[in-house]
Amino acid sequence: MKVPFIDILRYEKNFLETVTERTAALLKNGHFVGGPVIAEFETSLKNYTKTEFALGCANGTDAIQVALRAAGVEKNDRVLIPDMTFWATFEAVVNVGAVPYTVDVSKEHLHLTAAAMKEAIEKFNPKAAIIVHLYGWAAPETLEIRKLCQEKGVILIEDCAQAIGVKINDQSLLTGAFVATTSFYPAKVLGASGDAGGIFTTSSQVSQVANKLLNHGRTSHYEHGFIGWNSRLGAYEATFLVESLKHLEARLDSRREVCAQYRMHIKNSALKFIGPSANVTENGYLSVALMTPESRPAFIEYLKKHDIGYGTVYPGAMSEQPGAAGHIGGKISHGNADWIAKSVINLPCFAYMTKAEVDFVIETVNQYK
Ligand SMILES: Cc1ncc(COP(=O)(O)O)c(C=O)c1O
Repeated sequence: MKVPFIDILRYEKNFLETVTERTAALLKNGHFVGGPVIAEFETSLKNYTKTEFALGCANGTDAIQVALRAAGVEKNDRVLIPDMTFWATFEAVVNVGAVPYTVDVSKEHLHLTAAAMKEAIEKFNPKAAIIVHLYGWAAPETLEIRKLCQEKGVILIEDCAQAIGVKINDQSLLTGAFVATTSFYPAKVLGASGDAGGIFTTSSQVSQVANKLLNHGRTSHYEHGFIGWNSRLGAYEATFLVESLKHLEARLDSRREVCAQYRMHIKNSALKFIGPSANVTENGYLSVALMTPESRPAFIEYLKKHDIGYGTVYPGAMSEQPGAAGHIGGKISHGNADWIAKSVINLPCFAYMTKAEVDFVIETVNQYK
């Protein structure tokens, strides 16, 4: 048997039929940019995530840029980011003219802690901070970090590219987020068939500015109140996404089950599974285990030999990327992000993985010596 790391093509049959029908209708009505499907998707997204305002945009990186600007981040402002994230978080800060400062993450739960944030706020006096909810969980100290940033007057933006469908204390993660963003890159839990992204906020002011920024700073059709971008969500992607959203909970249940099966049945001391904290409901985006940096290369060779796909999300700290030089304002590092990058291993996990595939991964990993 061959098990891929991810297979994004396991659609529900009625999903494919409906998307095909709606795409044909779109090709006939010509509402390619804007139009009713954008509003339909944004309303469904707002209802699903239980936030006040939800906007579609072109991709998850633009979403962070627009969110930073709409929330008030300006040229040369300092912005804290975790040292363990996807590069887009770093890039977005630089692209709006602000300066990223990286903060090391916890070796236990792999996210930022409130104590590290406090230290970084005191040391760097930032205007804003981005926390990133990785792997399909919420950062375990999210509520403390939100409170801390509010007390210290630091604008908090939450990168939820991997966290659609995640809950804290049975409430949508996005309900309590002042400004948050997501990516609908095809491999995400809510994936488009191309690039797309989303911005969420509880603030009507932020929502209004963000909506203008992502459409050439338009205040009316030919009046431009801001220097913005063209980051509009296309109607075709909105169609694909609005239909995907109808199946999202079933897809997440399937992913959650894969993660749960691995945690329950893989009994190999070479791997230590990491999961969400007790008050968090994961979305099953990734299965995450840690190994020692010394033991990981041989395990990867073993997986390859047995035709099992794998990931190492992410294999490098942000502060160590060649592109960081000349842009990073400062960092707090204890070497944790670098250690995690060399230790993390992700086993196959995607919606509608078969029981035979999951069992094959479990048996193969259990036999590894
Ligand atoms: C944590 C994180 N932030 C930002 C992004 C950027 O999203 P996109 O690729 O849609 O620009 C991604 C997706 O790859 C991500 O995983």
